Amino acid sequence: MECITGMEPLCGSSMYALSGSGNLTWQNLDLSRQERSSQKKQSPKTIWFTGLSGSGKSTLANEIEKRLFTLGYHTMLLDGDNVRLGLNKNLGFKKADRIENIRRISEVSKLMNDAGLIVITSFISPFHNERVKAKEIIGFNDFIEIYVSTPLEECEKRDVKGLYKKARGGEIKNFTGVSSPYEPPEKPNITVDTSKMTIEASTEYILKHLKPLLK
Ligand code: ADX
Repeated sequence: MECITGMEPLCGSSMYALSGSGNLTWQNLDLSRQERSSQKKQSPKTIWFTGLSGSGKSTLANEIEKRLFTLGYHTMLLDGDNVRLGLNKNLGFKKADRIENIRRISEVSKLMNDAGLIVITSFISPFHNERVKAKEIIGFNDFIEIYVSTPLEECEKRDVKGLYKKARGGEIKNFTGVSSPYEPPEKPNITVDTSKMTIEASTEYILKHLKPLLK
């Protein structure tokens, strides 16, 4: 099995000992998720954006958070590049690192849902299995998947961060869509293609379909 970056000396059998799960007991807390969320008068959900780099997911996630915030929802946005500059700064882009990236984000999203918040995430999250695991961690009824289906050609044409050019030139390895796969969701709750709709129209479209799911 591939080892996550920085953990190589601990890989193999000693990785298991790290989990310590045999010696831990769940601590019951007096305040529940129910109480935390009813204080905020909302039903906590994780709104999970997935799509290629440059597809528009971070822009849309940001717009959606602003709109929900204005409507009075208590929200938190977790964005790929930002989380990778902090919590996940030890992770790269090989498969094992991306799996660990999404596992941590899923657990953080769940904790924030437990705190009563509506969480919005924006990660490429390219692997089907990892999105299924995210849904299992967060809870099937609390996970709303939004697929930003903007085609690779359009993302590459935009190349806002200049990363596709570097990936094509071999300067960046394991780049999603170029040298690493993207597995599209099978049944997302909402799909938008920002090559066909403006950001404003996509935001309205998402909001229209999202609001009934937040009840
Ligand atoms: S994920 O695959 O693990 O979900 P994540 O969303 O956290 O990816 O990070 C993606 C961002 O990292 C991209 O928007 C891009 O700015 C940057 N990046 C740097 N290297 C790569 C790479 N090899 N593949 C994809 N994105 C990369």
